[in-house]
Amino acid sequence: MSATIDKLRDEHRKMAKLLGLLNREIQAFGENKSVDLELVESILEYNLLFPDACHHPKEDVVFQCLCERDPEAAKAVGDLAEEHEELHALTSRFAMAVQNVLQDYELPRDWFYEVADEYMRFMRRHMQMEEVVFFPAAERILTEDDWKAVDARVFSKVDPLFDDHADERYESLRQAILLSEGEAGAAA
Ligand SMILES: [Fe+2]
Repeated sequence: MSATIDKLRDEHRKMAKLLGLLNREIQAFGENKSVDLELVESILEYNLLFPDACHHPKEDVVFQCLCERDPEAAKAVGDLAEEHEELHALTSRFAMAVQNVLQDYELPRDWFYEVADEYMRFMRRHMQMEEVVFFPAAERILTEDDWKAVDARVFSKVDPLFDDHADERYESLRQAILLSEGEAGAAA
């Protein structure tokens, strides 16, 4: 068992929550309803800041270890570094489109929707692949010593959204998460 893989799964759960919020806003956009673009902007800013700087590098270390232990199993995962780069590019493109809309630039609605949808589909598929293929393979193949080495190599960073000492600039996003959790709890 590894502290790192537990942390990665926990981070996926949090990222999935954000994806749920994004999805709600983009659906509203598709239906010409009012959209909280500041919330969308905040989610994308967080995704560029934290998962890119902390989550993906951790996965890259685990993947590197898997490549050394079992190249065949690693092949089933694919090119993880390339997926992370693609994800970064899609997030940046979406964030820029949101910035443009917030600054009142006229953007084709279909194009904006397509940019948002492509990002969300890629993110969902990527996380699912990691949950179904990558993490189980790493758990199966990496030894206890491997995990110790991985855990020693990955660094921990304060999560500016979900940790106790969260950043004030994410206060509205934090409230939106709490609200959606409350709604989900009430519906259950
Ligand atoms: Fe991941």
